[in-house]
Amino acid sequence: MKMKTMYWKDGKLTLLDQTKLPHEVTYVECETYNEVIDAIKTMKVRGAPAIGVSAACAMALAENASENMEKAARDVKAARPTAVNLFWAVDRVMAAVKAGVSAMDEAQKMYQEDMETNRAIGRYGSEVIDDGDTILTHCNAGALACVDYGTALGVVRGARDAGKNIKVICDETRPVLQGARLSVFEMQQEKIPVRLIVDGAAGHMMQTGKVDKVVIGADRIAKGGVANKIGSLMVALAAKRFNIPFYVAAPKSTFDYENSIYDIEIEERDPSEVLYVGKCSLAPEGTEVENPAFDVVPSDLITGIITEKGIVKPL
Ligand code: MRU
Repeated sequence: MKMKTMYWKDGKLTLLDQTKLPHEVTYVECETYNEVIDAIKTMKVRGAPAIGVSAACAMALAENASENMEKAARDVKAARPTAVNLFWAVDRVMAAVKAGVSAMDEAQKMYQEDMETNRAIGRYGSEVIDDGDTILTHCNAGALACVDYGTALGVVRGARDAGKNIKVICDETRPVLQGARLSVFEMQQEKIPVRLIVDGAAGHMMQTGKVDKVVIGADRIAKGGVANKIGSLMVALAAKRFNIPFYVAAPKSTFDYENSIYDIEIEERDPSEVLYVGKCSLAPEGTEVENPAFDVVPSDLITGIITEKGIVKPL
């Protein structure tokens, strides 16, 4: 990837505005922790690892501005509810601060670690990918969802870097279209062959032998399964029916050892995401909407979880 998801410049956190991709490559500068919270809420920055690292950077901005760190921690944690990386990152920065380390140093460490972690996920993941495979993915668990390289798309990059010829199929991923807008864009930038399908076509592609492996990312891995972008469950059910290996690629920071996956909060987002694509209205005025942003893939549908430490069984 030529462009960076996030970087520090002149004491500001600069974020690639993912709401504008693929048509506009623009950046937003965050000078205060509240500006980072707004960027997370509005999904200018999104994807569990990227949310985690930007949350850590928000804490560094709070420290620089001599804000009350306990309050900042509460505020940042309230930005989005499902990706556990957000809570993990804030807690880690707070523990570092209490141990006398600056929030900025800890955030920069996490930024660096994220890049190394994803490359390790890519190396382990490439072991389960065969030369010639077509990999189906859902949402965007790529460089744009992390500092760089990606988790699920990190596995794709890892396989490519290991010399394997692979192809990718991206679900468009309604309602926010991370698959169409972001994953396709990333693969095109990398010159990895990629095709786009509507979400409803995933089962058909598997049934007709056009998919060899499924690899997705995760927002939270806990006892009982994995929470990821809405639609992941249907992809996993179809993969099970057609005996297609279904892998989740995620760092250890996405594991939640305290909760059952069915007890976590699934974010409900604004109905406008479902009712409109851009400015184009899709449904009759007054239509009632449900817009859960994530669903849960039960453990028995998952072949393995690809982490930076190796491939593990689901919890
Ligand atoms: O709502 P989003 O775009 O933040 O959701 C992102 C996903 O569901 C990703 O698959 C997940 O965070 C893993 S990113 C490496």
